[in-house]
Amino acid sequence: MEKLFSIPLLPMDYEKYGALKTRRVLSQMKGLYLDQEAVEKQLAIEDPVIYEVYELPHPNDETDLLANITVLYPGKIGDEFYMTKGHFHLEPDTAEAVIGIAGSGEMLVQNREGVLKSLAVLPGYISYAGGGWGHRVVNTGTEQLVFFAVSGANIIHDYDTAAKLNFKPVMKGEESPHEQGQRAEGAIK
Ligand SMILES: [Fe+2]
Repeated sequence: MEKLFSIPLLPMDYEKYGALKTRRVLSQMKGLYLDQEAVEKQLAIEDPVIYEVYELPHPNDETDLLANITVLYPGKIGDEFYMTKGHFHLEPDTAEAVIGIAGSGEMLVQNREGVLKSLAVLPGYISYAGGGWGHRVVNTGTEQLVFFAVSGANIIHDYDTAAKLNFKPVMKGEESPHEQGQRAEGAIK
């Protein structure tokens, strides 16, 4: 396989370039929301798409990078904003860098000791979570939140630890996300 490609970030026609699209709907992640009544109420009406991930074509060697672009839709379940499932990385526990393309949101990062912080996901921002920081992205805006993320190619996604910690306190609709976690501007020490 030739390890070379070049793909425009916009417009979002990544499948044209061989990207693999995965769709996450509410019913696949309903246990992660605090307000289960709101979840059931929503599912009785419809099962909305929360986000779509476009995994860019890449070889699966340890020397390569897993690169994908996510479109996280705007919306709320009860008081909580739409969010990604969130995960830790295993074997190896590599870092992840996120670059905002469109919209506005936060990357919640939490370590296994439960320390929670948040990083900006905005156009023109790069946010970096080192190994050991589980991560979840939340769309705090009213538009689609689009971001590029890159990590080690051969990581195993650990959703279970993330689900247990669940990045709480959660992002709530009317509250400033910056008050929920300790937002890091510049470097996290
Ligand atoms: Fe990740």
